[in-house]
Amino acid sequence: MSGVGFGKTILFGEHFVVYGLQGIAAAIELNTTCVYKESKEGIISNDLVTRESINVEKDPQKRLSKVIRVILNEIGIREKNFELVLSTNMSLMGGMGSSAALAVSIIRCLAQRFSIPLSNDAVNKIAFSAEKIFHENPSGIDNTVSTYGGIIWFEKGKEKNKIGRFVLEKPVEIVLIDTGIIKDTAEVVEFVRQEKEMNSEEFKKIFSDYSALIEKAKIAVTENNWIETGKLMNQNQELLRRIKVSSPEIEKIISVVNENGAIGSKITGTGLGGNVIALTPGKKLQNKVSDACEKIGYKTFKISIGIKPKDE
Ligand code: MEV
Repeated sequence: MSGVGFGKTILFGEHFVVYGLQGIAAAIELNTTCVYKESKEGIISNDLVTRESINVEKDPQKRLSKVIRVILNEIGIREKNFELVLSTNMSLMGGMGSSAALAVSIIRCLAQRFSIPLSNDAVNKIAFSAEKIFHENPSGIDNTVSTYGGIIWFEKGKEKNKIGRFVLEKPVEIVLIDTGIIKDTAEVVEFVRQEKEMNSEEFKKIFSDYSALIEKAKIAVTENNWIETGKLMNQNQELLRRIKVSSPEIEKIISVVNENGAIGSKITGTGLGGNVIALTPGKKLQNKVSDACEKIGYKTFKISIGIKPKDE
């Protein structure tokens, strides 16, 4: 019995989505898998970040214990003896949505094991409860794209979030480049909140520029116009610089990918480290950009976005 949760990349709107502005995110084929095994020692699992083994009863304060407890509670599972073996091929704490993917993989695995039919909406709701343990004040974009897959636009609502899908003529190549620097999303979201409080006039202007940008971005992605999408991603990166979530490593990677022909590049996810997304339609450009980054010592992921989710 197993469950899979997909990672994500944010094409537009990290941090802005926390404040109710729209964002665009795509599921990626990098994922986390959860495998169910029998056990007689309580509920045990393995933390992918710390690499330690945890027992939900004996280590109640560990984040993974809390996440598993919330999930069991919300699904309504009372079984007290089993093991959840977690594995992943994603960067952890690197802007790929690893915590959301983890939650979705556990939820889907347990639902399958205990034959509980859960709709995507139900999976998404439970995954959001788990995300709150990881990130305190998440927008919900990561669990939403991890649950539904594909490419979506997302808007956090007071009562209900709004989401919509994009359909691509064919998947498009991107490169994710890992700065190797891990960041805690909750801390960076809090940093941005404080910056906003201190520079409210500047943030008003930035939010207004972003609102205009995301409208154009939705049209560009709908039209599969990658040149325009790339140009707008560069503009989004400029706004991310203005909210101070870029860093010297990120800027260095952005220069390299741009010099090698990427048609757009920016932070993806939390920022101040984590991963950079480079839009590189076509295998040739994707290889060129990836090779240039690997040559200077960065780990890269060559993937495609816009692969149709299985349920469509
Ligand atoms: C993290 O993947 C994206 C942020 O916007 C936080 C969130 O939306 O919860 C930085």
